[in-house]
Amino acid sequence: MYGGKGGLGKTTFSAATGWWLAQQGHRVLVFSVDPQASLSDIFQRDIYGQGPVEITPGLFAQEIDADQHIRAYQDEIRRKILDMYGMDEVPEEIESYIEAAAAEPAMEESAIFDQVVDIVTEGGYDYYIYDLVPLGHALYYLSMASVYDQWIDKITGLREEMAEYDQVAAVMQRDRDVPEDEILAELRTIKQRINTSSSILTDRVKTAFFFVLVPEEMIILDTVKAAGMFARFDVPLSGYIVNRVVPTELADQDIPEYLRNRIEQQQGALRRIEEQFGDEVMARIPEFERDITGLDMIEAMAGEMFGRD
Ligand SMILES: Nc1ncnc2c1ncn2[C@@H]1O[C@H](COP(=O)(O)OP(=O)(O)OP(=O)(O)O)[C@@H](O)[C@H]1O
Ligand SMILES: [Mg+2]
Repeated sequence: MYGGKGGLGKTTFSAATGWWLAQQGHRVLVFSVDPQASLSDIFQRDIYGQGPVEITPGLFAQEIDADQHIRAYQDEIRRKILDMYGMDEVPEEIESYIEAAAAEPAMEESAIFDQVVDIVTEGGYDYYIYDLVPLGHALYYLSMASVYDQWIDKITGLREEMAEYDQVAAVMQRDRDVPEDEILAELRTIKQRINTSSSILTDRVKTAFFFVLVPEEMIILDTVKAAGMFARFDVPLSGYIVNRVVPTELADQDIPEYLRNRIEQQQGALRRIEEQFGDEVMARIPEFERDITGLDMIEAMAGEMFGRD
């Protein structure tokens, strides 16, 4: 995972990492749950809501359409209600609740979260690259796992208590067959899925989380703060990548004062980054002459990140 503030290069690094790993012979999925995802832009292919699309041999990209997933999610809830309560039709008051819930941001979040859980638990790839949304939001997604977990613990507890009462009532009524509580089973399944995905996300062997930053004072401060918060969610921090470094060689050329000042300022920030993060800085990536879109630019970026073979 690449994390960082908006617009610093998360999607660019995700795409370049995916491309590079695929070149090494791995099967890779780069995926995004951001409605404003830009994987389609960088790969110059419309992949939104189409499932995994193969970009180059072994490199797959996927942009999740949250709305489509919410509709599937609603259908699943309807189906479960029908199954669990043995109904033929969802009662109108429940139906209107299901529809209203779709407008809830929480519904979107959980639909998205669910999809991420599906992707990481399903398997089928050697590497998954989760192109994250800007920082604040990413933290929100990560905290969802623990919020969900606590919530499900509570409900499961309540449900178990109820099941006990049911059992007592059944014994008193000499009714042997206490049907297995399907709702409880469902809750346990959800909990299992959440635990699986958060254990993958926080597994130091399986998961690497890199912060993207640029040499600017404000960004350094924000990154230090955010890194502390991610650490609290047990996200394994694997290092920092400094993007958009203006090559210092330019200073030897006849360049405008404007650019010279910028290089000087960046050098100051780079020293600060060195003091702050030291050898946790994995790479310093130059400012390219243009946006990174298309496979040629992705290849050039991968060369800067991983070296050229
Ligand atoms: N080293 C670089 N040189 C030139 N342009 C770059 C470089 N790194 C990134 N860019 C450009 O900066 C823009 C933002 O990059 P990108 O989309 O990867 O950021 P992001 O962190 O994913 O943004 P968001 O938070 O909005 O998802 C893109 O147009 C990208 O092509
Ligand atoms: Mg992005």
